[in-house]
Amino acid sequence: MKFSIPPGVFDIIPTNTQEIWKSSYLWDFVERTIRKTVRDYGYQEIRTPLFERTELFQRSVGETSDIVSKEMYTFEDKGGRSMSLRPEGTAPVMRSFIENQLHTIAPLQKLFYIAPMFRYERAQAGRYRQHHQFGAEAIGNSSPEQDAELIDLLYTLYKRLGLQNLSLNINSIGTISCRHTFRQALKDYLKPHLNNLSSDSQNRFETNPLRILDSKNAQDKQIVADAPSILDFLDEDSKIHFEQLKKLLKQLKIPYQVNPLLVRGLDYYNKTVFEVIVGELGAQNSIGGGGRYDGLLRELGGPDLPSIGFGTGIERIIQTMINQGIPLPSPSHPSLFLIPMGDEAKHLCFTLTHELRQQGIPTQMDFSGKKLGKVLQYADQIESTYVVVIGENELQTQEIELKELASGKKYKLTIDELAPTLKN
Ligand code: HAM
Repeated sequence: MKFSIPPGVFDIIPTNTQEIWKSSYLWDFVERTIRKTVRDYGYQEIRTPLFERTELFQRSVGETSDIVSKEMYTFEDKGGRSMSLRPEGTAPVMRSFIENQLHTIAPLQKLFYIAPMFRYERAQAGRYRQHHQFGAEAIGNSSPEQDAELIDLLYTLYKRLGLQNLSLNINSIGTISCRHTFRQALKDYLKPHLNNLSSDSQNRFETNPLRILDSKNAQDKQIVADAPSILDFLDEDSKIHFEQLKKLLKQLKIPYQVNPLLVRGLDYYNKTVFEVIVGELGAQNSIGGGGRYDGLLRELGGPDLPSIGFGTGIERIIQTMINQGIPLPSPSHPSLFLIPMGDEAKHLCFTLTHELRQQGIPTQMDFSGKKLGKVLQYADQIESTYVVVIGENELQTQEIELKELASGKKYKLTIDELAPTLKN
């Protein structure tokens, strides 16, 4: 029997020549760029388990959200508890923050994660059942500067990776009480149009009418175009916060559009929400998004601390880099490939390979003992920079020939000179 990979998930292999974005050297490059960038902004890593109690997501992301109501991988463990593979990273970070009492260590915690997330979605290009997010959460500060810093971190990462044509949409959804008043006004406006809305939006009319605002359905879009705007329902504090955020983004020269239809699909947000869109991604065009979620920690039984965060999909980042023709890094290759001819040479090469590696020179050697032509072909395939063949002659004279594979140039030197030469 031959097993195939389940739908909606994928392997990341060293080099995938058909679908380059599934090559691990690209993931490694993006992850290294993320780690460098978060360090510059003072974010520290947090790692939480792949699964949590189902209730954690119900209480935070929201029972009526698509993620919780339709997309969770939920199972009962052998102790009869309901568990779910995490569909997103914010709720687990909050759970861990509370359990580990991170607020007692420092008043502001800036945390990041690079982790797989699981959502049983309709699989298609750019939308997977296991995807990977780089997420950042700043817990303990309510100022618009904190919002701007977090958005700047995301933008700096995209810039360092070379991404272009990004559009940053921002909005404010205010407090629970302004959303309550707005929700009623929106329902009053939508009611006469109810029969013309898509069936998804009709279902959302009672449970989550704000989500109708960002429906992708063309007819819904037309109806929603004249709907009341959440921005007209904001309380004074949310209004000032949003105005200041816009000023700060201008100060940092981060271009944005205010999009009053942006509400996001997770229930925990208040005040600032944002999403970054890239044209080249097609239907799944959101590369990253997030917002403020000031009440969530308290709601989950923790201290009442304001927070803001984002998540950005690593699949979509790499696909955008490829779609935009951004120069990609190349996979790592050995500097040197040693080819022994005979047992004595093999013995020497084995130690030599070890010693060169100890000095930080990426070295490989042939164990196959195949014909020289075949071994050279392999050294070429793995794109070693140099090869050295060591046989009886070389053992006697201690003199070797270092051959650069790309140019065919040869350099004469002694075995002892190999390490210092390659190091230079
Ligand atoms: P989200 O918008 O659901 O937010 O996901 C964040 C990003 O993850 C999306 O912009 C997208 O790039 C990627 N993504 C989501 N679902 C998929 C999928 N099925 N396939 C591929 N990529 C996907 C959150 O998850 C929030 N926790 C973000 C956040 C953090 N808000 C505050 N803090």
